[in-house]
Amino acid sequence: MDELKSVKYGEINVRYYEDVGIGGMDFGQDFIPAVRQNFGKVGSICDFAAGNGFIGFALLANGLCDRLCLTDMNPRAIEACRQTVKENRLEGKVTIYESDGLRDVPASEKWDLVVGNLPHYNGSEEQYRKDIKAIDPDWTIHRQFYRDVSSHLSDRGAVLIVEDLKASRPEMWRKMVEESGLKFVKTFKHRMIRYPGGSAIRSATVSKPPFYKLVIAGIRWAMNPTYPFYFVWSARK
Ligand SMILES: C[S@@+](CC[C@H](N)C(=O)[O-])C[C@H]1O[C@@H](n2cnc3c(N)ncnc32)[C@H](O)[C@@H]1O
Repeated sequence: MDELKSVKYGEINVRYYEDVGIGGMDFGQDFIPAVRQNFGKVGSICDFAAGNGFIGFALLANGLCDRLCLTDMNPRAIEACRQTVKENRLEGKVTIYESDGLRDVPASEKWDLVVGNLPHYNGSEEQYRKDIKAIDPDWTIHRQFYRDVSSHLSDRGAVLIVEDLKASRPEMWRKMVEESGLKFVKTFKHRMIRYPGGSAIRSATVSKPPFYKLVIAGIRWAMNPTYPFYFVWSARK
């Protein structure tokens, strides 16, 4: 639990603590094709509630932004992210904030795109205290995030959050997004094809898998229509 592990995304060796959360290493890698297809390369991305930073570092490694900002309230997440930045000499490109929501992020921070894999399940305060990775008490984290994020978006800035059908319905986000003053764009699925044995770990790298692995991955992909993860896209008005 106290050991920092590693996963390689392109040229970036990402350091992580397993107990901080590893969802970003799995379905979180769906952000790569989703961002590439819908936004292309942007100047700056913020990975909100970044945990170990799997999503943000993978987007940076895949050339989808020039600058990256990572935020989380868990000091262990921040420690892992700082270690990745130090070992990969990314100080000129990556900024990190330890912050409850966006509270401690300076107002001067502006982003073209904010991505996030937040706690997915509604629950009580007590459940949240026991599991800050999974529980969002009465959807407070989401609501405060949408309320605060618009002042950090650049003129044409957008927000892309991954959610889970086991925990929420796509229809519920429109109201929360619109109440925050943002424009609701749409919800959609963009599932990445995962290679056998490599899972999303290797799928996030820029290396090409052997052809037979792609074929197996395609068959598996087609046979799993109940994939639960979906994106919520919103933007500045
Ligand atoms: C489901 S985990 C995902 C982590 C990471 N985004 C990933 O995909 O691997 C949710 C993250 O939300 C963070 N979190 C929970 N409550 C938060 C809050 N109030 N402010 C900022 N981050 C929070 C947790 O520390 C955790 O890293």
